[in-house]
Amino acid sequence: MKKYFLLSIIIISIVACSKKSTPTSGANTTILYSVMDAKATSGLNLETKYCTSCHKFRVPYKFPKEKWDAVLPVMYKKAKLTDSTQQNQIKYFIYNNLQKPVTTK
Ligand code: HEC
Repeated sequence: MKKYFLLSIIIISIVACSKKSTPTSGANTTILYSVMDAKATSGLNLETKYCTSCHKFRVPYKFPKEKWDAVLPVMYKKAKLTDSTQQNQIKYFIYNNLQKPVTTK
């Protein structure tokens, strides 16, 4: 009987510990991009709207400008985004925020 008691204590503590170590979601994290005027904000919103149906949001700093140059026209087609004003807003957001943004909690 004592054996089972001990065993359950061990199991409970393993469960409790593993629960604690799950990573926090980061839902409260604010990302500070360097340029976020009205045009860049529209660009960010448009990218979030049009560019996240197939893959996750691609942060600007993940790729160099040359990669974006090559990829964006292809992705506009994939996203069926034909409005050139909106295309330019996304481009503006990305090209002005190619350095890693600061995050706050
Ligand atoms: C219809 C689905 C779809 C949509 C919508 C879409 N993408 Fe993609 N995207 C893909 C696929 C599939 C790949 C991988 C292509 C490859 O590797 O040849 C990709 C690759 C990329 C890459 C290259 C880097 C990587 O992670 O492989 C970037 C950057 C990117 N997409 C950005 C965007 C942006 C910005 C938009 C919005 C304008 C967008 N995507 C919309 C499907 C999509």
